[in-house]
Amino acid sequence: MKYSGDVLGRTLLQAILVVIPLLLPLGASGQNVDAGKLLFGTYCETCHGENGDGNGPAAAAFMLKPRDFALAAYKFDTDADWKKGSDADLANVIRHGPATYGGSLLMPGWANLSDEQIRQLVAYIRSLER
Ligand code: HEC
Repeated sequence: MKYSGDVLGRTLLQAILVVIPLLLPLGASGQNVDAGKLLFGTYCETCHGENGDGNGPAAAAFMLKPRDFALAAYKFDTDADWKKGSDADLANVIRHGPATYGGSLLMPGWANLSDEQIRQLVAYIRSLER
């Protein structure tokens, strides 16, 4: 009897040890999204709009509006890996501005933001994709 109790205890412990690392990244990415949302409200919303749909008040006058992030119809392949809109591409566009990659001059680069802040912004943009 004692033996099966040990086995049950060990199995439970193993299950817990497997589940905890699975949940940790979820918590961390949720925090990134929240932090990114705050940054987005401060730096990006006037053009990209509250929900990232590209209809912010400043964009009303733009010939070329930012695309709706929900559609994930990204334009830039900044690292020439034949994939547009990878995490690295979004981070490059945010840091250096679209004009650096042949895009609009209207959006400045945000070289003043830290790597972590840019990661948080990318996480927030991803959370808007449908
Ligand atoms: C002054 C207006 C303005 C502000 C402020 C602005 N953007 Fe943009 N953004 C644009 C425009 C316009 C485009 C479209 C560029 C193009 O198609 O050439 C764009 C494009 C982008 C793209 C391109 C994605 C792709 O590959 O199609 C990303 C990512 C982006 N913006 C993120 C941000 C983030 C994050 C911020 C805040 C830190 C920000 N933008 C602030 C106007 C702005």
